Amino acid sequence: MNGWTKALGVKCNHCHTLGAWEKEDEPAKQIARDMVALTSRINGESLKEIKNLKSERPSISCYTCHRGAVKPETAPAPPAQPQ
Ligand code: HEC
Ligand code: HEC
Repeated sequence: MNGWTKALGVKCNHCHTLGAWEKEDEPAKQIARDMVALTSRINGESLKEIKNLKSERPSISCYTCHRGAVKPETAPAPPAQPQ
């Protein structure tokens, strides 16, 4: 779960009410479970269907998409303005 806070750039309270860890009051908590399922589907099924990849066991993680942010980017950042 420490890995998740780093991968998403959040603190524990993004998915929990501090001290009441077992509560299900933060939507992000269930989303995290669904994201675990998504990630294992990609690793366990989708990537295996692609032939001729370099790695013997190609895989992704939360960080592959999130890169320290709650909302993954879908396009590269615009180029920096010339000085
Ligand atoms: C991205 C969402 C997310 C973040 C961030 C997160 N957790 Fe969790 N946490 C979960 C989920 C989902 C579960 C339930 C796992 C399960 O269903 O087995 C959980 C379960 C727990 C539990 C056990 C209680 C329970 O509901 O099963 C504790 C204690 C806990 N987390 C502590 C922490 C601490 C401490 C941090 C910060 C370092 C943290 N969590 C950060 C999603 C998160
Ligand atoms: C294939 C890319 C991908 C992977 C891998 C992935 N995510 Fe996500 N995640 C997304 C996208 C896209 C969203 C939706 C962002 C938005 O709201 O537009 C999202 C949203 C979330 C949210 C909701 C954030 C919020 O708004 O509160 C949580 C929590 C989350 N992801 C946790 C995880 C965790 C934990 C993992 C690893 C187990 C993971 N994600 C792996 C793409 C990914």
